[in-house]
Amino acid sequence: MTTIALQVNRRAVEFSAEPRTSLADFVRDKLDLTGTHLGCEHGVCGACTVLLDGVPARSCITYAVACEGADVTTIEGLDEDEVTAELRAAFTREHALQCGYCTPGMLVSARDLVLRLPDADERRIRVGLSGNLCRCTGYVGVVRAVQSVIEARRARNIAPQADGGRTSLGPVGSGRATSSPNEPRLVPQALAPASEGAAPAKIPDFTPATVLDQRFTLAHAPAKVFAMFDDIAAIAACLPGVSLTAPPRPERVEGMIRVRLGPIAAAFEGAARIARDPATLSGRIVGIGTDQRSHSATQGEIRYQLVPLEGGAATAVELSIGYTLTGMLAQFGRPGLVRDLARRLIAEFAGNLDRHMSGAPSGQAVELSVWSIASDVLRARLARMFGRVFTGKGGAE
Ligand code: FES
Ligand code: FES
Repeated sequence: MTTIALQVNRRAVEFSAEPRTSLADFVRDKLDLTGTHLGCEHGVCGACTVLLDGVPARSCITYAVACEGADVTTIEGLDEDEVTAELRAAFTREHALQCGYCTPGMLVSARDLVLRLPDADERRIRVGLSGNLCRCTGYVGVVRAVQSVIEARRARNIAPQADGGRTSLGPVGSGRATSSPNEPRLVPQALAPASEGAAPAKIPDFTPATVLDQRFTLAHAPAKVFAMFDDIAAIAACLPGVSLTAPPRPERVEGMIRVRLGPIAAAFEGAARIARDPATLSGRIVGIGTDQRSHSATQGEIRYQLVPLEGGAATAVELSIGYTLTGMLAQFGRPGLVRDLARRLIAEFAGNLDRHMSGAPSGQAVELSVWSIASDVLRARLARMFGRVFTGKGGAE
């Protein structure tokens, strides 16, 4: 935990937070400022936009610890703000919202445009708001509302502010931070340094930061599944993006997993040690890997237990997956999202495994496309979110 001191809505606050805590989670969970919404949690939709040192910023991909000494304004801090009050009235008048989920972020971004642009036309407003996605209303009313506020202020001879009132430029949160941006404060938890060899000789035990439990069933007998789990090359062939880099031994395997997230490609290379217990049809795999390019590192542990079903004709595979991930890809650390991703990955693995054991080609992907899986997950999450909104179920976010 790191103690962070910053200003939020003109109030000095000091709280401790995990190095990986996002600013969005920080203001929502520690300060109860739930007007900052979370949509994609990937810096895409803009629902989480806040002002950071006067600059609109995505709080879902901004680490709270990077905001030491910064001045944060959430939508609640704009209650008395004159421009935001004009925008709220214009949004109401122009029917610029329905569910309102995108509206806090939309207002924060729109306020920045109103302050900076003296005579924005529709195109400039659309470009300026292109980082804020609305999934139910559309943009016609939003653009009309913003344009009407700009025109009204121009009619009242209110001059624009070229810098939008911001006090500093640069990486968000760096304006008044006490630590240098060249001295990152995010310290990996006892992971192997990125410079360590790709396949470390020692694979230590560790306490995972996140543990997920998953279960799938296979229409094959437990003994056959257990034997399959001993065939490391075949198992690797069923895992999306995984390849072996050395001949596997019964107790140790060296390999690589390729991951792609949009333009980001990572290749985690490392090793795992394997323990199996035929008496209990269970096993444990502990691995460690690093991606040299992104300086991301991971330690992972998979425990599996095979449970006979249908009088031994089928098998339930119970998995407990624990991991600690640091570096660029650690932004996938939000437990709900990771759980969804893990569910999808394991479903692919189970399908490949079943095809392999049935003698059909597994169709393994050479690269794990997190983005395509994350897009599906995001679509499902938005569908669930809007389902709650339209059916009136679930609490206010
Ligand atoms: S929740 Fe931050 S950009 Fe979507
Ligand atoms: S009003 Fe924009 S997402 Fe519903």
